[in-house]
Amino acid sequence: MEFILCTSTRNKNIPSTVTKVAPTVTLESDIQVQRILITGASGLLGANLVRHYAPRSECIGWFASNPISINGATTERIDITDHESVSSALARIKPDLIIHCAAATNVEWCEKNPVLAKAINEDATAFLADQALKHDSKFVFTSTDSIFNGEKKRYSESDAPDPLNTYATGKVRTEILVSDANPDSLIIRSYFYGYSSSGTRSLLEWVLTLARAGNEVPGFSDSYFSPISVHDFAEALDAALAAETSGILHLGSSDRISKYDFAQIAMEAYACDMSLLKPITVADAGLQADRPRDTSLNVDLLESIMGAPVPTVANGIERIAAEPNPFR
Ligand SMILES: NC(=O)c1ccc[n+]([C@@H]2O[C@H](COP(=O)([O-])OP(=O)(O)OC[C@H]3O[C@@H](n4cnc5c(N)ncnc54)[C@H](OP(=O)(O)O)[C@@H]3O)[C@@H](O)[C@H]2O)c1
Repeated sequence: MEFILCTSTRNKNIPSTVTKVAPTVTLESDIQVQRILITGASGLLGANLVRHYAPRSECIGWFASNPISINGATTERIDITDHESVSSALARIKPDLIIHCAAATNVEWCEKNPVLAKAINEDATAFLADQALKHDSKFVFTSTDSIFNGEKKRYSESDAPDPLNTYATGKVRTEILVSDANPDSLIIRSYFYGYSSSGTRSLLEWVLTLARAGNEVPGFSDSYFSPISVHDFAEALDAALAAETSGILHLGSSDRISKYDFAQIAMEAYACDMSLLKPITVADAGLQADRPRDTSLNVDLLESIMGAPVPTVANGIERIAAEPNPFR
């Protein structure tokens, strides 16, 4: 996870849309999945999803270099670029559902290491999607809100991607690979926050770490998004799975805010010293690579699946702030 944004490789050879299958909007009470495999279990989203599913399913989490143990779940080390290991582990586990959260998520690292980034983010994901089909497992792929160029706002699922960097370009290619290999897959574009096992993986943790150490918290006042808490993400995913949704789905907050606003809401919720918060612009930061200035998502489809409005950022942060950090 990275927070400060790097050299653009705009790839125009990317088809603009991915097949979208309209979901059934009827909700069931809960998803009935017996065995769930979650890749990236040591990461921000993966760890929170393992916590969410472990009490009601047989849950297996994969990590790579950061071992993690979560109550009620089995975790194991699998390098997803090792296709042989992946294949034999899947034959052993036989998951009903694979939620694929493992990725190289540092945008700058991907820019500098495009071959490795492709192996992790594209090739390994396409292999997993294909294996999921073979094992009759539902496949969920976590793409990103940053596949858009940011010239618009409140992007809907049918808006054309126009990625500005290697990471985002790889995500767009992977969306296509996944939907070609396994058309019943669910492809989620999102930006989320919450607590992580390392304490360093989310924007929320970055803001709080700086503020609690008495350091200035720089917040972009000209960069917009619609982030969702990991808890609201998990519940939205439940609803999408219960509705047997396939294709692309945007998961975000109901509001569109700047990163400065996000820091302000977070610092207020955690009673931080507000004088530490400083507005800056993306230009002020002197960043190398292109980043979209607005990745806010239209969540109409999600709301129709959930049958209710999705929470605001303030609601989401309040929810996280109201509970003790489960990873401490
Ligand atoms: N954070 C966001 O707001 C955000 C926004 C848009 C999209 N996404 C996407 O959502 C997904 C989850 O993101 P996140 O923020 O939770 O990621 P994260 O915290 O950076 O965690 C990445 C995970 O991937 C694992 N991983 C990396 N390389 C691997 C490999 N070769 N084999 C197996 N596992 C490997 C890591 O394992 P180890 O730590 O054990 O090495 C870690 O568990 C990713 O696909 C990301 O691109 C995230």
